[in-house]
This record gives sequence, C-alpha cells and structure tokens, in this order.
Amino acid sequence: MSTVNESGTFTLGGDRLVRRLGYGAMQLAGPGVFGPPKDPEAALAVLREAVASGVNHIDTSDYYGPHVTNQLIHKALHPYADDLVIVTKIGARRGADGSWLPAFSPKEVIAAVHDNLRSLGQDVLDVVNLRSMFGVHGPGEGSIEVPVSALAELQRKGLVRHIGLSNVTPAQVEEGRRICEIVCVQNHYNVAHRADDALIDELARQRIAYVPFFPLGGFSPLQSSGLSDVARRLGATPMQVALAWLLRRAHNILLIPGTSSIAHLRENLAVAKLDLPEDAVIALDKIAAHTDAAA
Ligand SMILES: NC(=O)c1ccc[n+]([C@@H]2O[C@H](COP(=O)([O-])OP(=O)(O)OC[C@H]3O[C@@H](n4cnc5c(N)ncnc54)[C@H](OP(=O)(O)O)[C@@H]3O)[C@@H](O)[C@H]2O)c1
Repeated sequence: MSTVNESGTFTLGGDRLVRRLGYGAMQLAGPGVFGPPKDPEAALAVLREAVASGVNHIDTSDYYGPHVTNQLIHKALHPYADDLVIVTKIGARRGADGSWLPAFSPKEVIAAVHDNLRSLGQDVLDVVNLRSMFGVHGPGEGSIEVPVSALAELQRKGLVRHIGLSNVTPAQVEEGRRICEIVCVQNHYNVAHRADDALIDELARQRIAYVPFFPLGGFSPLQSSGLSDVARRLGATPMQVALAWLLRRAHNILLIPGTSSIAHLRENLAVAKLDLPEDAVIALDKIAAHTDAAA
C-alpha cells in the first residue's frame, strides 16, 4: 500500500469512512468525456492500481462516456471491496454530439439512479450527488427542491445510501439540507480558484465533506510560476504541491484528482507525505490573489 493511508480519513454520513486521497474517474472516458478510451486496458489498470494503493473513494457518473467510466469501474473492481465508496452524479445527460444537458425532472432523476445501479452493478448506490445545471461555467441560483426531493424518495426506498450536491451555491446547499441530509458538496475549487472559501469553512463546521472538482485545474492543468517555484524548492511537482495545499486547507476536503496515467496516479497519491511549510503557503496565496485580480 502507498502512503494514501497517511492522508487521513473522513466519514461520509456517519457510516462510510473514506481516505482523504481518492480518485476521479472522469479522465478515463474518451476525448471530451465522450465515448470509450483509446486504451481500455490502460484505464482498467489505473483503477486497479488506485485501489491497490489504498484509494477507497472513487468519483464517477453514468454521464461520463456516457456509461463508459461506470462500466470500466465495474469491470476493473467488481465485486467491490466492502470499504470502497463509489460516489456518482446525476442531473445531466449527454446529447448525441457530446453536449452536457440538464436532466432534472423526477423521471430523469429516477432513470439516472437506475442507470447507475445497472452500470456499476450495485443494489444500492453509496453516495449520489445531484449536479446542478443552472450555470454552465459555475453554480447558478435556482431551486433544486424538485430533483432533491426525488432523490430523497429514492433514498427512502433504499436505492441510495447518501446524498450530496454539486456545482451549487450556499443557498442551494441550505435548500438541500432542508429536504434531506447532505453529506458532501462537490464544486470547482483549487489553489488558484478559491471562490468557495467561506462555504468550505461553513461545511467543515457542519461536518459535511467538500470535494473539489478540477483540483489540478481540470482539462488544462494549472500552470503558474508561483506553483513551480514552490515545487522546485520542495523537490516535488507542481501538481503535488496543488494537492498538498488542498489537503492542508481544511480537514473536510476530500481529493479526487483525475488521471488516465499510472505515472500521474502514483505521483498524485504520493502527496500524503508532502508537508507544506508556512512560507510555501504564503507564496501559494499570491497565486490566488493574482487569479482573483484577473477575474
Ligand atoms: N461535479 C462536476 O461538475 C465535476 C466536473 C469535473 C470533474 N468532476 C470530477 O472531479 C474529478 C477531478 O477533476 P478532473 O479530472 O476534471 O480534473 P483535475 O483532477 O483537476 O485534472 C485532471 C487533468 O490533470 C492531468 N493530470 C493529473 N495528474 C497529473 C500529474 N500528476 N501531472 C500532470 N498532469 C496531471 C490529467 O491528465 P492525464 O490523464 O494525462 O494525467 C488531466 O488532464 C473528475 O475525475 C470527476 O470525477 C466533477
């Protein structure tokens, strides 16, 4: 087992204990998260290596591909280890051209949960995030009452263990929490993009996990001379520094960096051992200050 164990743990919904270093499966689908990967065996190898290294939190969705990443997870890892927590997402569907479309009606919520159960080969989904689609490039205001209520009904029927939210505003988190227990929030956040700072602190107080998507910058990974300088000083890579910063930022942050490469996976999972000294944190704060000023 690698050092994943040393990243610490967090308990989702009181009963699903995950290590803070997890894995996001989106990069395993084909280009544009549409269609199959060029090398399916390589994708299966990444998933198996992640779990063999101690990862027990995998993020996915049936709309990645669509169906592709869930089918790869099923093929690589089923029957699943008891401690493996697979977190999936609903709320969107793919157009024939690969576009991302909202799928928020109760009928679509029910169909999406059944699609995920089928493609993952599970009787009950561990955690389902409702992905809000009000904003294209970030959260947008709008009521999520109807889809969250539909999901809560599926939870009562025993098809969903826990519910989370994604791409949401603080007001939507509050709206969701009035309907059912919310165990995690998955929004865009990283060392250079810190719009959710206040939300993270509030969720930490409520013992709700915050799971940043695009922890490494997403489709165009982070590039910053500040990040590279810190990495050089610490004998690490810029991506490792970006992940170590997130681990240090708050105890309720869970990491799901995405990669289709075994070498990158190993690099990412090694960060549990990387301690950031205070002067490195101060240097990294300047990256966010620059980004905010440019925004
Ligand atoms: N809720 C949502 O709306 C939402 C949106 C986006 C993503 N997500 C979830 O969040 C997870 C993480 O986000 P993400 O995968 O989009 O972005 P990410 O983790 O920020 O970055 C992934 C990109 O970084 C590259 N990469 C990974 N490790 C690297 C390393 N050590 N050195 C250099 N490059 C590296 C990957 O390329 P290689 O494949 O070449 O390594 C890929 O291009 C996804 O897998 C998905 O499960 C959720």
